[in-house]
Amino acid sequence: MKGVILAGGFGTRLHPVTKVINKHLLPVFSKPVIYHGIEKLVEAGIDKIMIITNPQFIEGFVNLLGSGQDFISQKTGKQIQIVYGIQNEPSGIAQGLWIAKDYVGNDNCVLYLGDNIFEDDISEYVKQFKEGAVVFLKKVKDPKRFGVAIIDCNNKVIEIEEKPQNPKSNFAVTGLYIYDNTVFDKMIGQPKSERGEYEITYINNLYIKERKLKAVKLQKEWFDIGTFESLLAASKFYETKSKTSGQEIKN
Ligand code: G1P
Repeated sequence: MKGVILAGGFGTRLHPVTKVINKHLLPVFSKPVIYHGIEKLVEAGIDKIMIITNPQFIEGFVNLLGSGQDFISQKTGKQIQIVYGIQNEPSGIAQGLWIAKDYVGNDNCVLYLGDNIFEDDISEYVKQFKEGAVVFLKKVKDPKRFGVAIIDCNNKVIEIEEKPQNPKSNFAVTGLYIYDNTVFDKMIGQPKSERGEYEITYINNLYIKERKLKAVKLQKEWFDIGTFESLLAASKFYETKSKTSGQEIKN
């Protein structure tokens, strides 16, 4: 299983802070945002990760992360391997993943949107994964901002709507996906959405049509670092967590 972290974009909602610093390099309490994603993948046993960002910011990532020397593989006890991909024009999440096509090769992959932070452990889903796709849902108050899962009476996702005006549920599709290798075939001939992007929601709906999409409801915290409020909320959460775990060690 390969990991692909998308860390591009211009973070305009965080201007002027993100004019010269990519938002994935900003601190969430004591660590850059991107550390949380890398650690989540490493915890799930993934030790080969491609980070995709825009050319303007690649240097910051390379200076911070290098070849992955700060992260230790659970399997080998040695450092993981981080490589980089460049997304010249941000044209959507599916297009970002397409850049990793040759890197993923015949493998399966976990796609991780680098501005998301998850507290749930996804190791079991990664280990048990065989085919199709897995998405992770979280109940939210403001579903209009996200991909929203339409769920039937048998608790099955029957469709995902991208940023709907009238959401049919409160379950947002979070920025974490597991895909088999057919994900790249599904992108061939994909049309752009009305907002001019190659949407990952389009790909997920193709998996639904094949009855190969599994949806998991997350139980713990999820942060989507796109605004100053969410950045602060995540920082406060990890500050509290660090104090609590400190106490646990003392006791
Ligand atoms: C993207 C996806 C959306 C998902 C969200 C999670 O939205 O298109 O389906 O709910 O990430 O962070 P974007 O961040 O591109 O607005």
